Amino acid sequence: MARKKIALIGAGQIGGTLAHLAGLKELGDIVLFDIAEGVPQGKALDIAESAPVDGFDATYRGTQSYADIAGADVVIVTAGVPRKPGMSRDDLLGINLKVMEGVGAGLARYAPDAFVVCITNPLDAMVWALQKFSRIPHHRIVGMAGVLDSARFRRFLADEFQVSVKDVSAFVLGGHGDDMVPLVRYSTVGGVPLPALVEMGWTSWERLDAIVARTRQGGGEIVALLKSGSAFYAPAAAAIAMAESYLKDQKRVLPAAAFLDGEYGVEDTFVGVPVVIGERGVERIVEIALASDEKAMFDNSVASVQSLIEACKGINGALT
Ligand code: APR
Repeated sequence: MARKKIALIGAGQIGGTLAHLAGLKELGDIVLFDIAEGVPQGKALDIAESAPVDGFDATYRGTQSYADIAGADVVIVTAGVPRKPGMSRDDLLGINLKVMEGVGAGLARYAPDAFVVCITNPLDAMVWALQKFSRIPHHRIVGMAGVLDSARFRRFLADEFQVSVKDVSAFVLGGHGDDMVPLVRYSTVGGVPLPALVEMGWTSWERLDAIVARTRQGGGEIVALLKSGSAFYAPAAAAIAMAESYLKDQKRVLPAAAFLDGEYGVEDTFVGVPVVIGERGVERIVEIALASDEKAMFDNSVASVQSLIEACKGINGALT
């Protein structure tokens, strides 16, 4: 059986890490596309030269030509500019919308059958625009945010309780931004929901509130530390988990920025909800009943995503 083909649009910090992880996990052969001449070629060669050491089989190619992504099974998009200290994800809108237009045209022409994972920020609006530009069917294009946000939440919870990250599961909803909605009552340690852990005296609501706040600001915390760029290891790991679930038909339940067509009362918007990812892409949207305070937070998050979508329409009249 031929190997799968994975195209990475953007060969920067996240793109390079994606390429390395995809190889280590033997997900397929990898094409790195970037407008910066030499960068995708250099990273492709460097990672390919690590393969004999780590013992994985994958071919790598760096390119400036969209024709080289032809027939890709999975495309992961990181093309664009990342945040600098003091910038919000929303500040990237104008520049990255233009980038999505070019990427969308490339996808429409050369990889219309791929499963597409978008990482470029501001995430929820960019995946919406990328779908419009590329015309990839809604169930085959998602944004990566929730896996990262919930991974940050899980990391902080595991540290709080001094337990393995493997035994912490977290549930986040909403857009990838400071108003994302971590759902405490659906987040568990060894199957025990967080409110029960407060009752058991393992932690306090104050400490949980601080962890939720840190999760929401998780991206900004890394930007402030790095000073030149934003997080890349955890975002890449998160997108690879989504791609792997598609390629191996794992049917994992993962939070993703998925197209809502009435679910959660939301129309024509990509926003973070739990979905099942398998060989058909987004096979199911998990629609849970929200308590009134959770619903208010979710609606607030959706409203900020929709205002960015409106801003996209204002910038590019072809987007409707
Ligand atoms: N087409 C292809 N690649 C492009 C284009 C384009 N039109 N414009 C920029 N790029 C490339 C850049 O040359 C760069 O190599 O995208 C790459 C982005 O890499 P980094 O600047 O290292 O950014 P990274 O940390 O990988 O983040 C990428 O993901 O998390 C988000 O906010 C982040 O939007 C940003 C994206």
